[in-house]
Amino acid sequence: MSHPPSLAWRRLSTQHLEQWVELLHAAYAGNLAMGMNFTAATMPLQQGAQFLADRLVWGGFAQTQLVATFTLRHDGEGWHLNLLAVRPDESRKGYGKLALLEAERHALDAGAAELLLDTADQHPWLLEFYRSRGYVEYGCVQKPGKTYRSVLFRKPL
Ligand SMILES: CC(C)(COP(=O)(O)OP(=O)(O)OC[C@H]1O[C@@H](n2cnc3c(N)ncnc32)[C@H](O)[C@@H]1OP(=O)(O)O)[C@@H](O)C(=O)NCCC(=O)NCCS
Repeated sequence: MSHPPSLAWRRLSTQHLEQWVELLHAAYAGNLAMGMNFTAATMPLQQGAQFLADRLVWGGFAQTQLVATFTLRHDGEGWHLNLLAVRPDESRKGYGKLALLEAERHALDAGAAELLLDTADQHPWLLEFYRSRGYVEYGCVQKPGKTYRSVLFRKPL
């Protein structure tokens, strides 16, 4: 579908904790099955609550159903996009691209000049997905405890 139905984007808070973590687990299960232990795949509720407190967590809703999410956080390096996810039963409808655009818009509003993200070097299609959305690789790191190397991307906004 070239024009997915729009989502209503809202900041998530602790009232959404279980729904959010459930979405993350479901979306990232495929990565885990392929051997990539992304944090989101097994995030305990307690860590989810900490993330909701520490960063800007956004959710895209269709009526009451949480369909897509991403987080934004700022540190000494700049603004990071993390935990991008779409419900598996709503995948390939364009919501992932919409979520990226939404994240870029909010980062820009927050004063970001560029957006940073990373993904697994061995993923079959995510590297190409980000390249096709204007993200450029600038490095590769091994994060502690991860079964994959993380390819670092940035995009000027
Ligand atoms: C990444 C993710 C958010 C994409 O969401 P989505 O709603 O399916 O994405 P879109 O429908 O906007 O598709 C974007 C493009 O990604 C690529 N893509 C998405 N799913 C794909 C798949 N299963 N196989 C190959 N390419 C795929 C395609 O190029 C697609 O464009 P197309 O449908 O026009 O060919 C979703 O797959 C997801 O939640 N994955 C698990 C969590 C994850 O890995 N997040 C990123 C961590 S860095």
